[in-house]
Amino acid sequence: MANIEIRRFCCSFCFLASLALNLFFVINPYLSEWKKQKLSSSWAEEAAAEAEAVALISCSGHGRAYLDGLTVDGKPVCECNTCYGGPDCSLFSSDCAADANSGDPLFLEPFWMQHATSSAVVIAGWHRMSYIFSDGSYISQELENHIRRVHAIARNAITKGKYLIFGGGSTQLLAAAVYALSMNLSTPAEVVAATPAYPFYKTQTDFFQNMHFEYDGDALLLKNSSDTTANVIEFVTSPNNPDGNLREAVSQGPLVSAIYDHAYYWPHFTAIPTPANEDVMIFTISKLTGHAGSRLGWAFVKDEDVYHKMQSYIEKAEMGISREAQLRALKLMKAILLGDGMEIFEYAYKKMSARWQKLSNIILLSQRFSIQEIPPLFCNFFEKVRGPSPAYAWLKCERQEDKNCNAVLQAANIIGRAGSLFNVEDRYARLSLLKSDDDFNLLLLRLNKLVTEEDEHKYYMKIS
Ligand SMILES: Cc1ncc(COP(=O)(O)O)c(C=O)c1O
Repeated sequence: MANIEIRRFCCSFCFLASLALNLFFVINPYLSEWKKQKLSSSWAEEAAAEAEAVALISCSGHGRAYLDGLTVDGKPVCECNTCYGGPDCSLFSSDCAADANSGDPLFLEPFWMQHATSSAVVIAGWHRMSYIFSDGSYISQELENHIRRVHAIARNAITKGKYLIFGGGSTQLLAAAVYALSMNLSTPAEVVAATPAYPFYKTQTDFFQNMHFEYDGDALLLKNSSDTTANVIEFVTSPNNPDGNLREAVSQGPLVSAIYDHAYYWPHFTAIPTPANEDVMIFTISKLTGHAGSRLGWAFVKDEDVYHKMQSYIEKAEMGISREAQLRALKLMKAILLGDGMEIFEYAYKKMSARWQKLSNIILLSQRFSIQEIPPLFCNFFEKVRGPSPAYAWLKCERQEDKNCNAVLQAANIIGRAGSLFNVEDRYARLSLLKSDDDFNLLLLRLNKLVTEEDEHKYYMKIS
């Protein structure tokens, strides 16, 4: 009897032990995977929690707190938009000037807030510490592939068969291109840009001037001069900053090279009549996604020798572009490419064209001011004729006595950028339409007041 009991006990024990062992072998891989995940994600969770806590700080919709911002009692504080103040940015200074000066592309900030999940990056402490990528280069191949895909969706550039270089913003690539196109010439190159021209071409070329090149001003003047023997490098900004015109090189001939600055050649700001296909084309993340602070631009270059020289410039100046900037750019490109990849272009076009419409409606009521006319044009991206949505308004003061348009604006508490900076008369001034909603709304308010006062001015002139 006792033997039977013992045998039963042994059988049950063996059965239970084998069950436990089987269970262990089945569950164990999942368990260790879970443990591994738990371990590996804990540092990321902490980083994410820190980022989210800062994002949750309320700045009344008129400012933002940042992880790397100033702290009070160890806690990050709000950085307020222009004209707003107080601990939570809720205090509006009613006499503050509307700042429409810089091309800071904050109009896209709400887009990225709507896409917080797909655009956030967590950077591990050991992320790409090396000077180089594992293939020995300074460039993320994955980012290059994604940039080419974004162009394919925007249909704004033919990138096949062209080399790609990254720069510290497009600003650095503009200098790299001048260097590359001028260094082997027998006589120094004259660097030009048709007016009105983006001021930084002159600023930067003057700053870096050497025996290979010098800034020579207006491309139109040089074209009309009798000198046809000079080596010329022309900056062609298309669409142009400040007036939004699509441009071709003015200078022609065998001694001419052109650097196409396509910072604004995105459906956000212009119709895309055809994909750009020039020898040297420069783009920037600043005006595509709005991340000017990341300082990342890229150039597509047809000629291998020019490509190597530009690359050599970037390597000597920088040893390549920050890996963190490249990682962030990659994440942004991935976010753009989600779905059919059209969302950011549709969003940005809608926003910029609404801004243009609102500003135009005010200027239409004015006899004192006018803005550039941009005709509707067929767009390769939208596959239809579309209206204007430029990055800047190019304002002209029409009254004889208003020779300094920026001073007229200043008197009305508006900060614009004087025409003379773009190498034209000060009867013109540039107003940026790229900034935050707060900046733009205040600009509308001040402009509206200025235009409304024209009637009072007319009445006063009549009775005096
Ligand atoms: C025509 C043009 N090119 C280049 C730049 C510089 O862009 P990035 O931020 O890439 O240096 C700007 C900036 O406003 C611009 O307007």
